[in-house]
Amino acid sequence: MNAITQELEKRREQARLGGGQVRIDKQHAKGKLTARERLDVLLDDESFEEYDLYKTHRCVDFGMSEDRPPGDGVVTGWGTINGRPVYVFSQDFTVFGGSLSETHAEKICKVMDLAVQNGVPLIGLNDSGGARIQEGVASLGGYAEVFYRNVQASGVIPQISVIMGPCAGGAVYSPAMTDFIFMVRDTSHMFVTGPDVVKTVTNEIVTAEELGGAGTHTKTSSVADGAFDNDVDALLEIRRLYEFLPLSSQDKAPISETVDAFDRLEPSLDTLVPKDANKAYDMHQAIRCIADEGDFFEIQADFAGNILCGFIRINGQSVGVVANQPMVLAGCLDINSARKAARFVRFCDAFNIPLLTLVDVPGFLPGTAQEYGGIIKHGAKLLFAYAEATVPKVTVILRKAYGGAYDVMASKHIRADVNYAWPTAEIAVMGAKGATEILYRSERDDAEKIASRTRDYEDRFANPFIAAQRGFIDEVIQPHSTRRRVGRAFEILKNKSVTSPVKKHDNIPL
Ligand code: COA
Repeated sequence: MNAITQELEKRREQARLGGGQVRIDKQHAKGKLTARERLDVLLDDESFEEYDLYKTHRCVDFGMSEDRPPGDGVVTGWGTINGRPVYVFSQDFTVFGGSLSETHAEKICKVMDLAVQNGVPLIGLNDSGGARIQEGVASLGGYAEVFYRNVQASGVIPQISVIMGPCAGGAVYSPAMTDFIFMVRDTSHMFVTGPDVVKTVTNEIVTAEELGGAGTHTKTSSVADGAFDNDVDALLEIRRLYEFLPLSSQDKAPISETVDAFDRLEPSLDTLVPKDANKAYDMHQAIRCIADEGDFFEIQADFAGNILCGFIRINGQSVGVVANQPMVLAGCLDINSARKAARFVRFCDAFNIPLLTLVDVPGFLPGTAQEYGGIIKHGAKLLFAYAEATVPKVTVILRKAYGGAYDVMASKHIRADVNYAWPTAEIAVMGAKGATEILYRSERDDAEKIASRTRDYEDRFANPFIAAQRGFIDEVIQPHSTRRRVGRAFEILKNKSVTSPVKKHDNIPL
């Protein structure tokens, strides 16, 4: 090595140390990896190309001109995940607490611009004390530049945020505008105002964990789409998720190799639905039986459990699944489940991922809490999302499909392409007992008469054939053949092409 190349290596080594060994040790003591160690786990070996390693901040206030660490608290560039490209930024908490300066923002904006230009997703690893306090408005301007780009990139490339440390104040709004947010349990927090400000303003005493930990955001607020026990688990799961996603809206849903036979029959599905219509069963079982190798990447598993959303593959191709879950609230649609599924449907549609809908829904959840909370508007989100989606849509009704919820859950009428029903399907305005109590109000106190009327209603409507007679159901299928039938449906829909009316953008009820 000659002197010049030696000098380069020395500079690189120094820059890679970030805020120095003492702060790196502190980071490790908290159970956290450093920004670079995280990229080592996330990206394929030797694939990382770093940019702006020597970039420094320009602040001269508060003695900052004497402290200009190269890289300025964020590591940026691109690499690959299982051979497919991805742009990344990883905030370095060892440099000014990963706080965002004007130049730190410029580094992030550079990779965002390249990601959009080149049709490659962006993954951001967030670990930051927020706006660089010494810089004031220059830092706030930097945030807004990032926010603006998040919006421009939305629907163009998948954007994924992983929260791996603090993320507070304005900083939360960049992840909030990306497609998915994942958190690390115990070491990550997200809030607009921290516990101290909350106490001053509202007198509430709350810990950072209670206010904005992974538990809060995956179970209560639904801000986050999933949580993992530590940095390594989180990053490995992001690698797994990445495999399901196309690179951009111009790309098709990826196809992976599979050893799972496309026409595999699944006899266990024939007995999945209990004879008693009021008994629950676990919809996860249906999803896993249909999926290649039983692999299901669930989104928001801990929130609104009455609907399941996530990614599977059928015959190697990525498919987004939305399924009512009879084990929670009997699978009713409510505010939270409608919001959760609507966002998922819109993500899949934006990125050409076909949609499979598994239906067992007794209707919308009744009650003042739902009505006062705006179920009309929130329920409409899911209806809107399904109706505007132009990706291939395949629906299977396993059991109940009652009332307006029948329409919402990717019915033929809102342009699902292939609608199947199991022989156990009941497609009706409402359950038989409720229906007869309204139709025969005068006989309400005569239990025997009502029971006989209910049986009569069941015989006539608690089946899929009336819908099939009208063509609302394309075929009543054997449950054991669901994987093959659904797979064949997606195969024939592969080149689906529909044009929507020209518009600036739609106006989904918010
Ligand atoms: N701007 C500049 N430097 C910051 C910073 C910020 N926003 N946030 C943290 N830092 C620096 C600290 O000064 C410290 O520097 P040092 O290593 O030279 O001592 C380093 O980052 C680590 O911070 P520290 O407070 O020791 O870490 P912690 O784990 O105990 O606490 C926070 C982390 C984020 C909770 C705490 O630093 C904090 O409250 N920061 C300010 C958050 C804020 O109000 N941001 C502005 C509004 S968006």
